Amino acid sequence: MSADKDAEAIVWAIMRKDSKAVSRYNVSSGEVRRKTLESLDENGLMTLTLMIKDAKKKIFGSAAKKYLDFAKSAISTPVYLLDETLIEENMKVLRYVRDRTDCRIFHALKAYASFATFPVMARYLDGTCASGLHEAILGHEEFGKQVHTFSAAYQEREIESLITYSDSLIFNSFYQLRSYGKLARQRGVEIGLRVNPGYAEVAAEMYNPCAPNSRLGIVHDIFAANFPKYRHMVDGLHFHAMCQQNSDMLEKILISFEQLFGKFVKGLKWVNLGGGHHITRDDYDLELLIRLINTFKTKYGVQVFLEPGEASILNAGVLISSVLDLVKNKAEIAIMDTSAETHMPDVLLMPYRPFVLGSGMPDEKKYSYRLAGPSCLAGDIIGDYSFDRPLKRGNRLIFTDMALYSIVKNTTFNGINLPDIAVCRNAEKIETVKKFGYRDYRNRQS
Ligand SMILES: Cc1ncc(COP(=O)(O)O)c(C=O)c1O
Repeated sequence: MSADKDAEAIVWAIMRKDSKAVSRYNVSSGEVRRKTLESLDENGLMTLTLMIKDAKKKIFGSAAKKYLDFAKSAISTPVYLLDETLIEENMKVLRYVRDRTDCRIFHALKAYASFATFPVMARYLDGTCASGLHEAILGHEEFGKQVHTFSAAYQEREIESLITYSDSLIFNSFYQLRSYGKLARQRGVEIGLRVNPGYAEVAAEMYNPCAPNSRLGIVHDIFAANFPKYRHMVDGLHFHAMCQQNSDMLEKILISFEQLFGKFVKGLKWVNLGGGHHITRDDYDLELLIRLINTFKTKYGVQVFLEPGEASILNAGVLISSVLDLVKNKAEIAIMDTSAETHMPDVLLMPYRPFVLGSGMPDEKKYSYRLAGPSCLAGDIIGDYSFDRPLKRGNRLIFTDMALYSIVKNTTFNGINLPDIAVCRNAEKIETVKKFGYRDYRNRQS
């Protein structure tokens, strides 16, 4: 069938709200997907967006049973179990945004760098964004495609290598631009400046890139005073001001960004809207994101980049852990073979209470427990939960949404071993891709 005929068949299926339309769209070539989108009117596009979201939701909805079955198997714990099927579902949504806007999407390695699943991700995205040299090398070697690097400050001894591995280097000050920009440009690397867009709504100050006195991004007055001198060296602007947020937040931030920096954008090649876009969350407003990007591109004539991390792997991995012991204080306490402090640090830092499959809030179900880690830290507490049946030593519990900001951040505090990393490549098969041991702990000490 020709591309036109293929596209026509998909459009027809969309109009009939035939659920096969989404799978056909997703496996089609870029040309067929483009022709499909071109043939749809506004209503048709909205229908396709809803169908894409529904299809993803359905597949995620069936994952819990699979994990419960895996937990009953002989798999050793603790283990981060990455679900390649679900990662690919997230990728499809991200690529749909790309299809509708022709933006470029770079996966943020800081959130997730388990390269065992990069081949699937690289089929859908344009590359990675790196926070410094090591991530830039990993992105280049394991993901391929483009690498866009931002660090609050680069070290002189790393700049040669950063230039080798990066397609763009984003600077956080005019001093750093002056120091390294010329060399980078001579070597064909594009140059960006990170700015503070002047607006953010992130409740936890620790995670707010625009908190008072933030070091992240050049503030407007300094930018306006210096940019004209350096304009000839700069290809794009970058901001990152969101954390787990919807597109309505991007809309507010863009208003502020445009007020402060809009007049400097025309003539640049790109604007990078950073990460923090929870694009693959069920309630995320994709249509608004698409409209914002398309309007921005038309208004300024620039390419738009996004660098989501969480959205790539949201809800696409779990941490399976076993109950080691049960002790009693005023509360019943289950000591797990995993630890908030070492294996899920954001639980303590954010802080948040991870969801455990089959659990309820404390006292919601008949048997309540505090789940805690084996480390010496008094506060190594994962959270308070309740269950239908009493917990027993050896029971397995499944902490959901554990692929993001966990493996990249975990530690060996107390010499506690790191969890295995396993990948579920299809519905039945699990491949353990990494096991850790004493050597890994020892190698990090002197
Ligand atoms: C500059 C930058 N880009 C992208 C990201 C990825 O953000 P998220 O994982 O929340 O999408 C972050 C996260 O801190 C960041 O600092």
